[in-house]
Amino acid sequence: MKSRLNINGLDREFEADPTTPLLWVLREQLGLTGTKYGCGVAICGACTVHINGVPVRSCVRAVSSVAADEKILTIEGLSRDASHPVQKAWIALDVPQCGYCQSGMIMAAVALLREKPKPSDRDIDEAMTNICRCGTYNRVRAAIKVVAEGGDARTAGLSIQHSDGSIA
Ligand code: FES
Ligand code: FES
Repeated sequence: MKSRLNINGLDREFEADPTTPLLWVLREQLGLTGTKYGCGVAICGACTVHINGVPVRSCVRAVSSVAADEKILTIEGLSRDASHPVQKAWIALDVPQCGYCQSGMIMAAVALLREKPKPSDRDIDEAMTNICRCGTYNRVRAAIKVVAEGGDARTAGLSIQHSDGSIA
């Protein structure tokens, strides 16, 4: 069945069974492979995208449940050149390790910061339920705080150990 979705500001057509998870339409039909498949059961958050600004686990969201006029945002739509403030903070603090979970992490962080520009540790704990096998949680938290403080790693008063062992 032919359907249409609004993704990253563009109307996109695709054909899929209505029960197909949104994740697979994004990845397989539309080539938006920045959104990852991890658990498939709404636990890990690797598949996080936004629908009308709300973070959604696309592995368990039937594509037919998303209306054509709802606004889907994937990691590809965040910026063309990794210039979104959250992406910049992620780069500045060397947040990713293998990287697999990170687009989901970033999408969750963007949603959190839109809702709460100055999140507390508790806010971060509650919003960032994504799983990272590489254990980047401390750097994820630090990068969110960098964005919240409106500066880069060096002005945010944070001490971050990078993957090469250096401290910034
Ligand atoms: S792949 Fe969707 S939550 Fe894990
Ligand atoms: S950076 Fe490897 S799973 Fe998170």
